[in-house]
Amino acid sequence: MISTERFVLLFSLVMVVVFVTAIMVSSKGLGIEVAECLPVEKTFTEGRVSKLDDHTYRVYYVAGMWSFDPAVVEVPLESELDIYLTSKDVVHGIHISDKNVNLMAVPGTINNTRVKFHKRGEYQVVCHEYCGTGHQNMLGKIIVK
Ligand code: CUA
Repeated sequence: MISTERFVLLFSLVMVVVFVTAIMVSSKGLGIEVAECLPVEKTFTEGRVSKLDDHTYRVYYVAGMWSFDPAVVEVPLESELDIYLTSKDVVHGIHISDKNVNLMAVPGTINNTRVKFHKRGEYQVVCHEYCGTGHQNMLGKIIVK
């Protein structure tokens, strides 16, 4: 006679095998592949902006004590920014005023988001993660013309 504990343990193991098999079979059937981390180079150490077309820009932000590189980004109206963010020292954050952008800048990792600008103006870029004595001065700007 099998004890209740052994039955529960055995049943759990069987269920794990069933679920993992179901995930593998369904992902294969749906053609789902494991996502790659990023469609761009794995690391970058300097900030820059690259223009993909007239209204699409890729912005590589490097956060560091206590500034963003690039500090100022200028784009035309109706531009979409594909933002990649990393940090060269401690954990920072990025928030763009009037936009739903809130990313962490973590050393050794790259975070990504997209944001589109439908209104002209200057958008403040601020660090929202306490990162040291200069945290409150860690500002940048996105100018939409
Ligand atoms: Cu960087 Cu706060």
